[in-house]
Amino acid sequence: MSSNVVSISERRNADAATNPIKTLQTLVSDDMGLVNELILDRMQSPVALIPELAGHLISSGGKRLRPMLTLASAQLLGYQGKRHIGLATAVEFIHTATLLHDDVVDESNMRRGKKTANLIWGNQPTVLVGDFLFSRAFELMVESDSLRVLKILSSTSAIITEGEVLQLTTANDLTTPEEKYLEVITAKTAVLFAAACEVAGVVSEQGRKVEEALDAYGKYLGIAFQLVDDALDYSAKQATLGKEIGDDFREGKVTLPVILAYRRGTESERKFWKRTVERRRQEDGDLEEAIQIMTQHGTLNATVERARHYGAMAKDALAIFGDSPAKTALSDIVDFCIERAY
Ligand code: IPE
Ligand code: IPE
Ligand code: MG
Ligand code: MG
Repeated sequence: MSSNVVSISERRNADAATNPIKTLQTLVSDDMGLVNELILDRMQSPVALIPELAGHLISSGGKRLRPMLTLASAQLLGYQGKRHIGLATAVEFIHTATLLHDDVVDESNMRRGKKTANLIWGNQPTVLVGDFLFSRAFELMVESDSLRVLKILSSTSAIITEGEVLQLTTANDLTTPEEKYLEVITAKTAVLFAAACEVAGVVSEQGRKVEEALDAYGKYLGIAFQLVDDALDYSAKQATLGKEIGDDFREGKVTLPVILAYRRGTESERKFWKRTVERRRQEDGDLEEAIQIMTQHGTLNATVERARHYGAMAKDALAIFGDSPAKTALSDIVDFCIERAY
């Protein structure tokens, strides 16, 4: 078990010199060691396929961004207890469960630089192990002994699923309003970022103002993060991030780069989008053409510009906190989330 923990942190250190996420990792490294141990402990089951499948995804790394937000938020508030460790673990379990489910729904083949669980083991065990991890997250939440924490994280889990289902209803719809897209990404991604930060506020018992500021910071950061993720889906950089380029296009997912390209498009470009995204009749070279059209209309840049706007709002939400290394790290991580687009 512990050899796995070491290999995850060793990989991190190797990346550290060039990766701007380093400040945050260094800041929370002791606590994160405990979280990684708890993750490995709680993913166990006598049913061997469960730790095998879960371990495949968990040992592939991942940024561990959300639990680091919980740990850094606790540090920001000078929290002295230990309840944030279990909560950070619950947050990463919720994230891991949604990734397993999301890759089934999106029919994705690559995640964290490896084959997805659904590709290796099929959809059925992947969905069930996702359910298992959700349930493990609930056990950890209950152990926090706080009804408010339980309320925040359980409603977050419901909202993530609502976001994923709402997204299904917007698939192939090129006229999806930007507001609806924002509603989807807020639900499927930003609400978990917000909860990751807010629960640290709750266990620190410093009042609603503090909780609200952390909630706002996490929410705006999460929106920015997903906007950048949606731009990256059309970038060659996607492969270096361990995911496949063009997943969203292939499945007809209508994200902001597509919404704007359809809106700004010529008549013949609109025909192209209707064929490829609305009717999903795709041919070789279509993804390249989609990227070319988007580049011409600047829709990938526009998406990152929107992310910058939400990133600025995230930083503003930190204004109520005094200067500290944790505040600097939380502020800098906003830039990291946006700069990863380049
Ligand atoms: C992927 O999240 C899912 C999205 C919300 C885009 P991350 O990019 O944080 O995934 P890992 O955990 O680092 O692999
Ligand atoms: C991520 O959505 C949101 C959740 C996993 C709930 P995406 O489908 O955009 O994430 P990736 O691109 O597969 O990581
Ligand atoms: Mg996906
Ligand atoms: Mg994506």
